[in-house]
Amino acid sequence: MVKGKFITFEGIDGAGKSTHVETISTYLRAKGKTVVTTREPGGTPLGERLRELLLHESMHLETEALLMFASRREHIDKLIAPALERGDWVISDRFTDASFAYQGGGRQLSTHKLDILEHWVHADFQPHLTLLFDVSLDVARARLDNTRTLDKFEREKHDFFEKVRNAYLQRAAQFPKRIRVVDSSQPLANVTQQIEQLIDQLDE
Ligand code: TYD
Repeated sequence: MVKGKFITFEGIDGAGKSTHVETISTYLRAKGKTVVTTREPGGTPLGERLRELLLHESMHLETEALLMFASRREHIDKLIAPALERGDWVISDRFTDASFAYQGGGRQLSTHKLDILEHWVHADFQPHLTLLFDVSLDVARARLDNTRTLDKFEREKHDFFEKVRNAYLQRAAQFPKRIRVVDSSQPLANVTQQIEQLIDQLDE
């Protein structure tokens, strides 16, 4: 699974990562790369069905974590690994760091259990680069309220998102080479420029 590059985009809901998935894909395609964009939970027909359940049904915390990883197992096998073997660039809107942030930080599932699931599903496999779009809760909330009907996670309280954000930042501190924190409160053009530089470094 080593020919292509695997980049994941993370951040609390409303951090703006989905916009940047589009911008960066266009940027990479202009550089002549074959780009596959995808998302979690989801990314495969089965994964998208699991996504429906995960975003709209209430369930036990461990069921939620297990389904996130079930969707991920399918995603790696059916989409991510084959694309990387072909030499494509894969950009995923969320991956395992989201489970540590939301199920671990937000819902307080033990990191030990998440470590076990991560090891089970992708022991020797990690993104080449993870961009963590970081923004204050107030900015994120304002962006969300303006755009859409909120799903199960997006309806959570301030305190939940504070824990999710802190867990993301902790993870970035734990894996500083892989996870790069991007200040997403900056004007869009600045953020884009920052991430293009990070992507260029990966292409060298
Ligand atoms: P999100 O990526 O924000 O998609 P959209 O922009 O279409 O709303 O939604 C996915 C939600 O799933 C998000 O609130 C975070 C949550 N999530 C987890 O709780 N754990 C995970 O492992 C993943 C991948 C996502």
